[in-house]
Amino acid sequence: MEQNTLIQIAKDFGSPVYVYDAEKIQFQYKRLTSAFCKVKHLKLNYAVKALSNISVLKLFNSLGSGLDTVSIQEVQLGLKAGFKPDAIIFTPNGVSLEEIENAAELGVQINIDNLSILEQFGTKHPKTPVCIRINPHVMAGGNTNISVGHIDSKFGISIHQIPHLLRIVENTNMTINGIHMHTGSDILDIDVFLYASEILFDTAKNFKNLEFIDFGSGFKVPYKVGDIETNVEELGEKLSNRFNEFCKNYGKPLTLAFEPGKFLVSEAGYFLTKVNVVKQTTSTVFAQVDTGFNHLIRPMLYGSQHEISNISNPNGRERFYSVVGYICETDTFANNRRINEISEDDILAFKNAGAYCYSMASNYNSRYRPAEVLWHNNSAYLIRKRETFDDILNNQIEITL
Ligand SMILES: Cc1ncc(COP(=O)(O)O)c(C=O)c1O
Repeated sequence: MEQNTLIQIAKDFGSPVYVYDAEKIQFQYKRLTSAFCKVKHLKLNYAVKALSNISVLKLFNSLGSGLDTVSIQEVQLGLKAGFKPDAIIFTPNGVSLEEIENAAELGVQINIDNLSILEQFGTKHPKTPVCIRINPHVMAGGNTNISVGHIDSKFGISIHQIPHLLRIVENTNMTINGIHMHTGSDILDIDVFLYASEILFDTAKNFKNLEFIDFGSGFKVPYKVGDIETNVEELGEKLSNRFNEFCKNYGKPLTLAFEPGKFLVSEAGYFLTKVNVVKQTTSTVFAQVDTGFNHLIRPMLYGSQHEISNISNPNGRERFYSVVGYICETDTFANNRRINEISEDDILAFKNAGAYCYSMASNYNSRYRPAEVLWHNNSAYLIRKRETFDDILNNQIEITL
């Protein structure tokens, strides 16, 4: 988005504020569908957890996307946004049987990732087709928090438990209509995808009633200058060929599914913050902004590097800054970062603020969560109001002591 537009949005809606560029979301969606154009039946299920604002979900609905959900509340949001139940897959981890039954009652595709619930669900609801999430025992992903397909991970049913799984399916007479994996996020090397896919194909042969194979997600997007991204075009070419060959041998054209979050929304997002204080110390110059890890936790949680630019002074000379938040703990967004000269009241734009940013925000330090704005067809739409003091008090009960 143009810097002047972002500055205007900060003026009109205040700071801090999240801004999402609808055109970029549409571009990424089309890029991924084009990469897999050789596959007859392709389904992209946007991972709601990345950015769950209902207006963003509506945008995905208009593109023909499905949804990947991990909680009953995400399912409800998807339905409220207008998605048909069969366009939603429910892939929770470690939730109660009751929550899975509630989702099944709403008509969404159930995806089960452990044998205990599979047996209980299959016994009670043998007529509801179920997808199974397997754990292919592959180490993939940008860091340990987001590597979820390895042998020590809590996710999925181990490929070594397939004989037990098959026994449950036979004993309960249930139908397995899909098979799924998600090995991690920020996977750079397409060979890792292709390797894990072979394990999924091998497992799929055990099930005769499949309608789809879901390869999860994990596409890496660039975060900083010089960063490399997953080559989705090359992956699309190679995996599509292999998928078509598998379907031929399987005897039926299946649907190839993915459930990307970051790839679709990360780069569409900007987080605009105002500089409250420029503080010189003996070791650095701090730019202290009107936000903190309560609004954007990824740098502190994952060490992720969001590019930061001073959109109030884009041509100023570059200097080195530590950009920090106002939370009363170490709250660092960037260390020793080269940024155009910063003055108090300048607006800094954090890039890649679409995925796992607002959706991980909290009220820590009793701060309001920021507003969200969607930039669509050259207009800025407020899609979430900034919170107020009433929101902080909402649900709190004052007792007389
Ligand atoms: C099951 C599942 N699917 C999809 C995703 C989306 O991954 P990404 O944002 O890397 O595309 C996640 C992310 O945690 C996930 O857990």
